[in-house]
Amino acid sequence: MCWIFGYIGWENTQNKLINGLKNLEYRWYDSAWIFEISKDKNTYLAKAVWKVSNLANKVQENQNNYFAWIGHTRWATHGGVNENNCHPHFSSNERFFVVHNWIIENYIDLKNNLEKKWYNFYSETDSEVIAKLIEDNFEKDLLTTIKKITELLQWAYALAVIDKENPKTLIGAKVGSPLVVGIAKDGFYISSDPNTLRTICENFIPLQDNELVVLAENNYEIYSFDDKKQEKKLLEFENYDTNKWKWEYKHYMLKEIFEIPSVFENAIAWRINFQTKEITSNTLSELVKYDIKKIEIIASGTSYNAGLTASYWFEDLSNIPTSVYVSTEYKYKKKFIDDKTLYIFISQSGETADTLECLKIVNARWGLTFGIVNVVASSIAQLTKMWLYTHSWQEVWVASTKAFIGQLAVLLLISLKLGLKNGMDYGRYENIINHLAKLKQSLQESLNESVNIKIISEKYAKYENMFFLWRNYLFPIAGEWSLKLKEITYHHSEVYSAWELKHGPLSLIDKKFPSILINPQTFLYEKNISTLKEIQARNWKVIWVLTKWDKNENLYDDSIFISNQKWVLTPFLVATVLDLFAYYMADFLWREIDKPRNLAKSVTVE
Ligand code: F6R
Repeated sequence: MCWIFGYIGWENTQNKLINGLKNLEYRWYDSAWIFEISKDKNTYLAKAVWKVSNLANKVQENQNNYFAWIGHTRWATHGGVNENNCHPHFSSNERFFVVHNWIIENYIDLKNNLEKKWYNFYSETDSEVIAKLIEDNFEKDLLTTIKKITELLQWAYALAVIDKENPKTLIGAKVGSPLVVGIAKDGFYISSDPNTLRTICENFIPLQDNELVVLAENNYEIYSFDDKKQEKKLLEFENYDTNKWKWEYKHYMLKEIFEIPSVFENAIAWRINFQTKEITSNTLSELVKYDIKKIEIIASGTSYNAGLTASYWFEDLSNIPTSVYVSTEYKYKKKFIDDKTLYIFISQSGETADTLECLKIVNARWGLTFGIVNVVASSIAQLTKMWLYTHSWQEVWVASTKAFIGQLAVLLLISLKLGLKNGMDYGRYENIINHLAKLKQSLQESLNESVNIKIISEKYAKYENMFFLWRNYLFPIAGEWSLKLKEITYHHSEVYSAWELKHGPLSLIDKKFPSILINPQTFLYEKNISTLKEIQARNWKVIWVLTKWDKNENLYDDSIFISNQKWVLTPFLVATVLDLFAYYMADFLWREIDKPRNLAKSVTVE
């Protein structure tokens, strides 16, 4: 999961490249480098293990008229974290410089063949093979050669390549991994993430798989690997600057949690007419024309937890049996693709390799695919037959918070729309729509609990193990919170349906193992009180997430309150308060919250 950032143009500055790499810093990485070349073939290379700031300290401001720049942050897959394995990788004749994202799966065979031809390898990476292959297959010019070697590389990859003998062009190629071209007044950019181009470019173009871009002094051209020139529409960045308000908050995570009410509104406001109670989305009107008898949801991590929550809505409200799969498992399991099943792919980034691979398999077998995606024009949005954006704005923090809420909002709308088609009681439908109109306010009230949540989370930060217990709709929310806690506090937690404890995990419990039970006013409220008694009989500590004015408030060690809301809508509120809980706990523990160890924002390797 390395990341690429490159520039070709007239403004002679290293700062652009360093800033571009800094904008990619919200993902975990372990080394960074830049490479620069001038029109008269002077080159400059700087590498640094660990932070971009280490690189920035090393880089010398120099007066050479550099014209093309490429840079990279590396997330080690093949070979350890050291400067040798750091990109750019270069050919034996030191003419071709390559930066690569993702994995060349057949690199061992390719490397063996090249070694037989006496090529020496200096790194342990798969990426070095690409530079040597370009040298070995060179014919006519770089463009012709890259087209040729794409037939040899077993994907997937995004590449950026510079030929020292022709320094006025920079070539990018994409199969499977994201790569976008940025068009600015001062030249052209290439990046793994359109968000890094937002403040410096006027427009951008996402490359499709099997496409190449040639960036030159005054123009750019895009080709398919089979040599057809491609005409592309220029896309515009949406009109917002996500970094603007970061200074108000200690971390991006906190900023993004506090954006939750607006993100929720953004996902539903223009898709529901609250006067007529109608769901007005054209995409959903199109979707209900299909005869859907079953739903399969495929996603990873937080997006998987959104899918699990939605499976309760699809079954309860839409009356459609629903299965949810983690992408990594779905890919290799036996699939029963048929035309009465809707295949929903959920992804914040729209680029998660495991999910994308599953989507391609289902597409190849003509399944009806539907994407729920945050990043506009990302691969999953482009490859699904129908899709809805969650419009959660850019999520900078590595782990998902607000994007999860956006996903839930869109999934709930789909379940309501399908529900009406499948004979859902209109009174119930109308009642949920009326409550949805008030949900933004309830979310805001939940955030107002932050002072209380902070105090409780600091008290519990010393516990390195926790249980999260709930049933039904809120069971996946407990799973999502447990994931958040692992990601940012590095503490261990287990998720169980409350009554499942007695089937085994109860043996784990002692005084150092508190439980969080989620028990708002619902049909399961009284049953959960018996679970509370069971736990307290063993002297465990118990935190509850409760609806305000709970008559049994005094029974618990600590309580976190959410507003009274319809049962089917409580996942939104509980997820929000628990995100805050995880955040404050991690902050108390001095964790590096916005860049948790070993994690990347967008997982573009399998
Ligand atoms: C957790 C988190 C990850 C992602 C997962 C899928 O906080 O962010 O678990 O949810 O890697 O990513 P997307 O949604 O981009 O497909």
